[in-house]
Amino acid sequence: MKSKGKIFLLDDEELIISMLSRSLKKQGYDVMFETRAEGALDKIRAWSPDLVMLDINMPDANGLDILREIKNIEMDTQVIMLTADDTAETAVKAMKTGATDYLTKPLNIDEVKIVIENIFERGRLKHEVDYLRKVYLDTFKKDLVGESKVIKELQEKAEKIALAGVSTVLITGESGTGKELMARFVHSLIYRDSTLSCAPFITINCTALPENLLESELFGYEKGAFTDAKGEKKGLFELANGGSILLDEIGDMKLGLQSKLLRVLEERTIRRIGGKKELPIDVTVIATTNRNLQDAVDKGEFRLDLFYRLHTFSLHILPLRERKEDILILAHYFLSYFTAEYKRSNPKGFTPEAEKILLSYVWPGNVRELKNVIERLVVLENAELITPSQLPMEAVRTTCQTSHRCILPDEGVSLEELEKDLIMQALQRTGNNRSLAAKLLHMSYDSFRYQIKKFGLE
Ligand SMILES: Nc1ncnc2c1ncn2[C@@H]1O[C@H](COP(=O)(O)OP(=O)(O)OP(=O)(O)O)[C@@H](O)[C@H]1O
Ligand SMILES: [Mg+2]
Repeated sequence: MKSKGKIFLLDDEELIISMLSRSLKKQGYDVMFETRAEGALDKIRAWSPDLVMLDINMPDANGLDILREIKNIEMDTQVIMLTADDTAETAVKAMKTGATDYLTKPLNIDEVKIVIENIFERGRLKHEVDYLRKVYLDTFKKDLVGESKVIKELQEKAEKIALAGVSTVLITGESGTGKELMARFVHSLIYRDSTLSCAPFITINCTALPENLLESELFGYEKGAFTDAKGEKKGLFELANGGSILLDEIGDMKLGLQSKLLRVLEERTIRRIGGKKELPIDVTVIATTNRNLQDAVDKGEFRLDLFYRLHTFSLHILPLRERKEDILILAHYFLSYFTAEYKRSNPKGFTPEAEKILLSYVWPGNVRELKNVIERLVVLENAELITPSQLPMEAVRTTCQTSHRCILPDEGVSLEELEKDLIMQALQRTGNNRSLAAKLLHMSYDSFRYQIKKFGLE
């Protein structure tokens, strides 16, 4: 049987020691004991028990002194004091010195059992909480990878914003650029102080719910606020108290709700739907959007005052194609991430040609798209190095349109179609200006005219 834990007994009364040790061993604990205080501390230090049961009155020592010394050792050991007198004074002294609990002699073995089980249960919970807290925090630490100047500057700005303890932050950028990741990063910076490190981080997508539902999610409601409100419900602002709330896609929030949000940001209080009380809240509001809020303001779809309020501290993440330095760094990062995750030893990297394609592709889906591409490669490919033909066709095709080097797809391609397509694109881009279009295609005006005729594009 696996031991339930290690218990060290220190008491000069042999009878108590033998009774305790027999009963505890029977319950599945590892037991060690000593009837003399001398040298006991060294044994405790060496064995590092989970629990010490310590007599307060021994002929050769004062239990409280030993307790103090145990607590001085850098160990997670709990101590139960055993006392003969049931005075509150002794108990208070013991607890103040760091004992977890105390038991009065004569010992009642059932009581001993319960007290010990409680202590071990508490220890287990503490370990579990420590573990979960670490896992939880790790989800925030998922590094914001990137070496480009813009990303470095963005990280520095995020640090400054977090240090200043601002109450609202706006994060903008195209879809998949890492807005949510940045929001978690900002949150982890604001609450990095260990006592706050379990600060809540609550996300709500403003597009996902109709306006009235979103409102009751955010603010909660009192009983009877509307026909369905059978009981009261806390809103997300209340639940996020002491932490952050991420309002995802704030650009899609309806005007009515925008004014209520603005009120919250200004007053720092909320009122549940149907409620009268103003509840103070201490929440960092992080809003993200891939819309251009200024445009939305111009169209009358976003309140100007809310825009100003949010815009004060904002972080804009550039699309991947505008920070190409990050592409290969991210690609390699995801490669090692997914090979570890799927326990693969390959692929280990990319051929230079494949890297070229990754670099010249426009990545409309930004980092998310890159991440998905790499995950697929890790799952499906076994070669040590990824070659161009293993990259998904979208990447190859768009590369054809944007770089000088075209990669012939496996299934081949109609050169005529490609020519025609490029000619049409050139015309479109130049607003049908033939001489500019000819220049774009590095052709003489005459050959261009000939081609137009050939493809019937006049
Ligand atoms: N700099 C980065 N380093 C590492 N991973 C990143 C980075 N940027 C984005 N990612 C990853 O890319 C994916 C998309 O990021 P995220 O969800 O934060 O984007 P988003 O901007 O919120 O997208 P959307 O607008 O679609 O909601 C996530 O899996 C995220 O972990
Ligand atoms: Mg997002």
